[in-house]
Amino acid sequence: MKKVDKMKTGFLDTPIHKLDNISKDLRCNIYIKRDDMTGYAFGGNKLRKLDYLIKDALDKGCDTLLTYGGPQTNHGRLTASVAARFGMKSIIIMDGQKPKEASGNIILDLMMNSDLYFTDNAEKKDSIREEVINKYESQGHKVYEIPVGGSSELGILGYFDAAEEINSQINTMDIDLDFIVCGYGSAGTYGGLLLGKKYFNNKYKVIGVSVSEKSEKQISNDIDYMNRAAVKYNMGIKLTRDDLWIEKGFVGKGYNIPDEETRKTIYYVAGKEAVILDPCYTGKAFRGMMNLIKEGKIVPNSNVLFIHTGGTPGIYVKEHLEEFQKELW
Ligand SMILES: Cc1ncc(COP(=O)(O)O)c(C=O)c1O
Repeated sequence: MKKVDKMKTGFLDTPIHKLDNISKDLRCNIYIKRDDMTGYAFGGNKLRKLDYLIKDALDKGCDTLLTYGGPQTNHGRLTASVAARFGMKSIIIMDGQKPKEASGNIILDLMMNSDLYFTDNAEKKDSIREEVINKYESQGHKVYEIPVGGSSELGILGYFDAAEEINSQINTMDIDLDFIVCGYGSAGTYGGLLLGKKYFNNKYKVIGVSVSEKSEKQISNDIDYMNRAAVKYNMGIKLTRDDLWIEKGFVGKGYNIPDEETRKTIYYVAGKEAVILDPCYTGKAFRGMMNLIKEGKIVPNSNVLFIHTGGTPGIYVKEHLEEFQKELW
């Protein structure tokens, strides 16, 4: 495999610990990998991808990071965190209209001096992108573009490395792992873990719980993306649809729309383990995992590792906070 240089943008290795109370309830051994504890700006999965992306940006002489996402993008927040620490500018172009109130990640983006732009409608995205790049480049900045979720071929290496980190940790902890479960969005986290599993020939299965509606066509595009990374970095492996296990039934009403079942999962995990999940990604993924256990698709006594990918500022997003207040206050 081709060696690629990276920087260290977070605190690694992240801990793995057992969820003792939930393991008893569900009659499986459930472990959690705390990628919500990667450190800066409330942490999360995107710092692993940014390890590679920031190195590439600096090598190319760029001083400005430009990325994209929904108004509550966790990836945008962590891009802003890296820019702040490395003395760079950050810009986030967000889908849709500027929300009336700043909450959750947006407040954190602004604290870290990120410049935010809103596209209003999808058709305007390309022209806004061009305008924004021209504006900053005419001021003498050199802009490095990062795709949604940091899920480029380079970014995926962050979770390929996480697979190696997990292998070494479970070895030390003497855990014979059967399943890894994580949220599935722009496919970089899941894709990196799956490429790592195949490359290192691990026996465990990697399950992705989709956080938004995904058609088979989109999944096929995601597989192409994972395989492009495999070719680019000489991994010597090729993924097919049969390698992927994607659970599509836990999206709720849609991407980042408050959802009662997901909140019940969040309350359950907080009350049993003092681990706080988020309403957009990890709450859904955990709910998906619990369901697979209840349905027997993950059989009793299995060793399961749940990846906590972060996203906890999502709790403080107005729409979610209103629902938490109704139910808890
Ligand atoms: C907290 C959190 N978990 C999971 C994901 C999904 O990761 P990926 O986009 O790499 O599939 C994201 C992506 O934004 C995220 O912010």
